[in-house]
Amino acid sequence: MPTPDPRLRVLIPAEKVQDRIRAMGEQIGAEYSDGELYLIGILKGACIFLSDLARAIPRPVRIDFIGISSYGKGKKSSGEVKLTKDLDVTIEGADVLLVEDIVDTGITLSYLLHVLQQRKPRSLRIATLLDKPSRRQRPVDVAYTGFQIPDEFVVGFGLDYAEDYRNLRDICVLKS
Ligand code: IMP
Ligand code: MG
Repeated sequence: MPTPDPRLRVLIPAEKVQDRIRAMGEQIGAEYSDGELYLIGILKGACIFLSDLARAIPRPVRIDFIGISSYGKGKKSSGEVKLTKDLDVTIEGADVLLVEDIVDTGITLSYLLHVLQQRKPRSLRIATLLDKPSRRQRPVDVAYTGFQIPDEFVVGFGLDYAEDYRNLRDICVLKS
């Protein structure tokens, strides 16, 4: 067993994360009955959540990714959003579920919603694993939320600090 990292405190244990994702997948499956459903993951943080969510949805889905940079290497957002990788597919006429790891200020998602809406999807909604509502600067309408969390910096399950900790199975607070 590796020594536990003293900087980490478990906030949401792996089993609770998995239970919640299973329930979200069932709900999404029930709410989208027909037509193409695209899950669009926001790189890189959402890739682990998306992988589990996709398998929890009991109907066909398609997957693509979009790349965005907003945070750089620190814990604070630079406030600047840049598209670093565009979609490979056309989403016109399709149901689109934008899959995010965490909604914080809302700057990233309000920018992406604006960009993707112009491509005329049939519907465009958001699924996020985590939400820090107290930090919101731009209003965003989130259709599916895994957990609301307090204003603490978290890592694990895709979320990083300077590219570390993404592969933790638990969601942990990174003590400063
Ligand atoms: P927003 O534009 O401020 O909503 O930022 C959302 C992005 O910031 C997320 O996709 C994460 O990449 C990053 N982020 C926000 N809070 C945290 C956190 O607590 N841990 C790790 N990344 C975070
Ligand atoms: Mg992210």
